Amino acid sequence: MKKVVLLGAPGVGKGTQAAQVAKYLDVNCMASGDLFRDHLSRESELGLQAKSYMSVGELVPDEITIGMVTEWLNMPEQSSGFVLDGFPRTIAQAQALDNVLNNGTGGLDLVIHIVVPVSELIDRLSGRYICTKCQKPYHIVSSPPLIKNQCDDCSAPIYQRDDDRSDAVKKRLAVYEEQTAPLVEYYVGSGLLTKVDGLGQIDEVRTSIQEVLA
Ligand code: AP5
Ligand code: MG
Ligand code: ZN
Repeated sequence: MKKVVLLGAPGVGKGTQAAQVAKYLDVNCMASGDLFRDHLSRESELGLQAKSYMSVGELVPDEITIGMVTEWLNMPEQSSGFVLDGFPRTIAQAQALDNVLNNGTGGLDLVIHIVVPVSELIDRLSGRYICTKCQKPYHIVSSPPLIKNQCDDCSAPIYQRDDDRSDAVKKRLAVYEEQTAPLVEYYVGSGLLTKVDGLGQIDEVRTSIQEVLA
């Protein structure tokens, strides 16, 4: 079980769990949102293309996203496995992922659908801060950093994401329902989907995920 997708609405805890899951499986993880934000901070052409979509909570067009992720997936380090956080997010992206993997060493092993009620998602996103350097997520109440305003892992300052404003959060949740929720059916159809309850302590959710991976 080495090729895993974390699927779920904004704020369910994909980023919080992804690094741990990757460590557990001994593979790399890739968060498409983190890659876009990294491009944005370097003001690369890709970052500038993505910016106008991300800031209002819309999806970056498939052709841009698929190209960026395919490049990552085709790196030799990823041949033994990976954890994907935030990709795929449309049926076209899921089909592109199937194509990339079927050209290589085989398809996905598991899609973990993390589920959390919407009211909790809004609380989580409104209190979230992320690291300016490694993008690790924190929460002012449920998972504050050990030292105020400073990342535990790399000591860089933490900040609030531009798209965690309430209007952009509303838009992201609506876009999820419209464009990403259909992937649940898609992966049920291919027998890859398993559901995990994302409510509860971060450690409890991690244990539930490890149980489905065991
Ligand atoms: P992206 O960065 O992927 O954002 P998202 O999907 O909206 O998801 P989030 O990162 O907001 O939530 P998360 O599930 O990672 O939650 P987290 O672990 O941080 O995408 C951003 C944008 O980039 C998109 O809107 C789009 O424009 C573009 N984009 C990205 N991928 C794309 C794609 N494939 N196609 C097109 N466009 C794309 O947790 C949230 C908070 O909750 C944190 O504060 C955390 O500390 C807290 N928390 C976590 N777990 C718990 C728990 N168990 N209990 C209490 N609090 C918890
Ligand atoms: Mg995230
Ligand atoms: Zn950091």
